[in-house]
Formats: sequence, C-alpha cells, structure tokens
Amino acid sequence: MSDDKNIEKPKVSARRSALKAGLKLGGLAAAGTAGSGAIIKSAVAADQSKPDPLITEIQDWNRYMGDGVDSNPYGLPSKFESEVVRRDVAWLTADAKSSVNFTPLHALDGIITPNGLCFERHHGGVAQIAPSDHRLMINGLVDHPLVFTMEDIARFPRENHTYFLECAANSGMEWRGAQLNGCQFTHGMVHNVVYTGVKLKHLLDEAGVKARGKWLLPEGADPAHMTRSIPIEKALDDCLVAFKMNGEALRPEQGYPLRLVVPGWEGNMWVKWLRRFEVGDQPWHHREETSKYTDLLADGRARRFTWEMDVKSVITNPSPQAPIMHGKGRTVITGLAWSGHGTIKRVDVSTDGGRNWVTARLDGPSFSKSVHRFYYDFDWDGRDMYLQSRAIDNHGNIQPTKNALRLARGENSIYHNNGIQTWHVRGDGSAENVEIS
Ligand code: MTE
Ligand code: CO
Repeated sequence: MSDDKNIEKPKVSARRSALKAGLKLGGLAAAGTAGSGAIIKSAVAADQSKPDPLITEIQDWNRYMGDGVDSNPYGLPSKFESEVVRRDVAWLTADAKSSVNFTPLHALDGIITPNGLCFERHHGGVAQIAPSDHRLMINGLVDHPLVFTMEDIARFPRENHTYFLECAANSGMEWRGAQLNGCQFTHGMVHNVVYTGVKLKHLLDEAGVKARGKWLLPEGADPAHMTRSIPIEKALDDCLVAFKMNGEALRPEQGYPLRLVVPGWEGNMWVKWLRRFEVGDQPWHHREETSKYTDLLADGRARRFTWEMDVKSVITNPSPQAPIMHGKGRTVITGLAWSGHGTIKRVDVSTDGGRNWVTARLDGPSFSKSVHRFYYDFDWDGRDMYLQSRAIDNHGNIQPTKNALRLARGENSIYHNNGIQTWHVRGDGSAENVEIS
C-alpha cells in the first residue's frame, strides 16, 4: 500500500537543531503513517535552525502565580477562544426572539457539542422557568390524566443517550445555490448532546394511553406555545423527556427544565420547555405549522410527514471560517456525518469535486442517531481542491448530490437539504462555498 516515492523522511538538519533546542521529536515520523493509508510528511513547520524565544526564554505565565481556585466557580473557556461563539445571520429573520443562531462547527472536534455552543432556535424567545414551578401534564385519550412535577419525573428509571438534533431548515438557504460562507451558517443548525432523561413510554404508561390514542401533541410553555403532532409509535419507541444535557441541567436556551427528545427526527418536534402531552386519534393539522414544515415540490404538491433526517455530512475543516494555515504538506481534513436512520457506516472524501473518492477514517463513539467524526489525513500538494464528503449509513442510504436532490424535489424546498457540500480550497489555504456541476 505504501509507495516509497511518497515517503519523506524527517530532515536530518531539522531533527538535529530541534534536539539542540531541547525538543524531542520522538515518534513523529512513526505517527505520520497513521491515517487513511497515506504516508505523511513531517508536520513541523517552524524554522528549526533559529532559537525560538518561546522555548528558550521564560514567559510571564511561567513565572507569575495565576488566579486561584475560586476565580471561576462555574468555569469558562479560555479568553483566547473568544471567537468560538454561536453566531446569527442578521438578515435571515426579522427579530432576535423568533430567530436562529448557529453552532460553530468549524471550531469544534470530537462528537459532543458543548452546551454553550448548541445552536438555538426559538419562536418566542427563551422562557425562564423555575423547576419548582414547572409541571408536565398528560391529557386526552388516556385512562388517568396526570400532572407531573420535576421531582415526579426524576423518580422514573433514567437513561443516557447521545443524539443529534438537526433543524429541518439546516442548509435550507443552499437549495438554490451556494449562499452562506462558512459551515457554521450552512450546516450549524445541528448539535449533538448526551441527554439524561426518562423514556416517554414510562410516563405514557402511567397515564394509560387508550386504544384509540394514535397521536401525541407535545406543547411548550414558551410564548410560542409550540406544538407538533407525533405518531404514538415513535413516542413509545425511543422518545425521551430530558432534563440534563452533557451532564448538567438543560440550558435555558435548550428548554430548561424539560424538553422532548425525538431521536433522528427533525428538530422542530423536540419541544422545549415541555409542559403538556395531549393524546389524540389523529394529527392536529389545524394547530401546527404544517404548511411550514412540508417540502414544496416543483409541481406545487408538498412532501409531508418527512420527519426523519436523512444521511448527511459536511467537512468542517478546512472551510471558509477555518482556512488551511500551514501551507502544503501534511494536512488533516475533518468533518461530521449523521443519519436519522441509525449509525454512519462510511464517509468518503473527495478533493477533486467528486471525481475520485477515498474512504475517511471514522473516530470516536458510533452511536445510533448521533453525529460521527471523520478524518482524512493526507499530503496536500498545495493545488486547488474541491472538497466534498459523502456519508453512507448502516441502512445503505447514501448522501445525494445537491443536483440529485433538485432533480427529485425541484428548487422550491427549504427543508431537508442533505446534499453534498463543496468547499473550494485555494493554494493559499482559503476556502469558499461553491457548487460544481
Ligand atoms: N420548542 C419550543 N417550545 N419553542 C420553539 O420555538 N423550536 C423548535 C424546537 N422546539 C422550538 C421548540 C425548533 S424549530 C428547533 S430546530 C429546535 O427546538 C431547536 O432546538 P435548540 O434551540 O435546542 O437548538
Ligand atoms: Co427548527
């Protein structure tokens, strides 16, 4: 598999001067053989022949005492990470209360989205609810209508699951062509969190769903009174009523103190500030935004009940907000892949706009209906790249091209755009959102 021509041994002069400066390069050359089969050049870019004051001189942070243990009772990221924040696109919505911001995917790694960086989508702003004042009601076609306090809910058996939440409108601006310049904006309406909660089935069993009860209407306690119709099979299958995210209480933005988790299904159904479930015998079309959460086809008909989020992926680095800074040579491409149907089996990466594909390396836990992290480690020759990723899930679903999606659904859609994204990476490492036909 390894081709001798591609092996570049670490330069002897570099190694020698590095040793002089007291730096050990142990294992670097060996580590370079990891990855997708390619042999990788040295990753050390600095000029090793000159003394580097950052290594030869003692710096302030190495000399003076730092802050003590109580300076940050609830810890914050380093001040040097201040650019890593959720961002909105001002012109997308009329005001900030019925709006959306985006997860900075290009600045993250692994599979977990830190709580403070989970994108937010609200229709009536963030409700502030004391847990002691919060109630969850189950009514409608049940034997015993019930009202639960937060304490009641925590007495049911708890479970932990890692799931992605993707808004159906994620990548919606890209239906008609490349639009927003950064994966934060094109793909950042997704987050991936470990939820702690109880199976909705336990609560419904306690209330006793009548045989005629086929649909569920969850309702939020926010001013938007958010509601959606959910088939009872899904509710009894894997839905959770969650109160913790990544170990701590839900953030107010994510529905504190209680939210519905609908694994693999579009984010709109994951009702936040969850206060009520009504059990009915049919969907509540008249009450919800059915006209919004459908996909308008070219012939004027609409796709409805498109709840499952299809297989999708995006390269997060490099991308327009995260150019390649180190020039050609050893390079790591990384990104995320997910499917509402299950796990990700394989991700392919192309550097030439989809003509040739190589299999990326999946790393990290592979949970069903969770994002997966992939890497492609290779030697960049410094030439322009048209970077794409293509995910395949465990059911054999393959992420389509944007043009294939348009052929199937026309150009009127906003929702459920899982098409393949292209970044044009120039020789200087900068990247741009483009489409190639
Ligand atoms: N739940 C309530 N109560 N109110 C809302 O506005 N927005 C929905 C859903 N649940 C919403 C809600 C939409 S459209 C999405 S995409 C997700 O919440 C976003 O969840 P997040 O804010 O945790 O990212
Ligand atoms: Co949404």
